[in-house]
Amino acid sequence: MKSVLFVCLGNICRSPAGEGVLEFLVKQRGLESEVYVESCGVGSWHVGEYPDPRMREVAESRGIALTSKAQQFKDEFYDRFDYIMVADRMLFQDLNDNAPSSQVKDKLYLMTHFSKGFQGQDVPDPYYGEMTGFEDVLDILEESCNGLLDHLFKR
Ligand code: 4NP
Repeated sequence: MKSVLFVCLGNICRSPAGEGVLEFLVKQRGLESEVYVESCGVGSWHVGEYPDPRMREVAESRGIALTSKAQQFKDEFYDRFDYIMVADRMLFQDLNDNAPSSQVKDKLYLMTHFSKGFQGQDVPDPYYGEMTGFEDVLDILEESCNGLLDHLFKR
């Protein structure tokens, strides 16, 4: 069993979308017993809330339900997860600076790391923007999560 944590700032847009997309693809590939997924935010403002309605709407239009409730990143997550997928380089820097060991730093990746088209890029924060920004987030995450699964299962 591989465990994957998606991390963004608020845990209401990018990381719950990553969680939902990866779970969707895991089901599509019949890998439910192989992969465990959660998401969280570095900030605490939205703890307990469902994902942003705009993010849910765009995901639902692609057949993806976003059902998680926001939680804040805790230090114990550094140990608990095998892959920690971070939305952008600023948050990556934060998590990297606070990581307790170099082994833990090796678990940190940008969400786009295993993508072909978006590798190394930030997933842009859609919160203060237009609906097209939410579509862009899903385009990036679908590609990136397929790449992650290809990597994990060497397809
Ligand atoms: P997320 O987007 O990090 O993708 O969940 C944001 C959501 C809320 C806020 C910032 C980013 N906020 O400042 O409340």
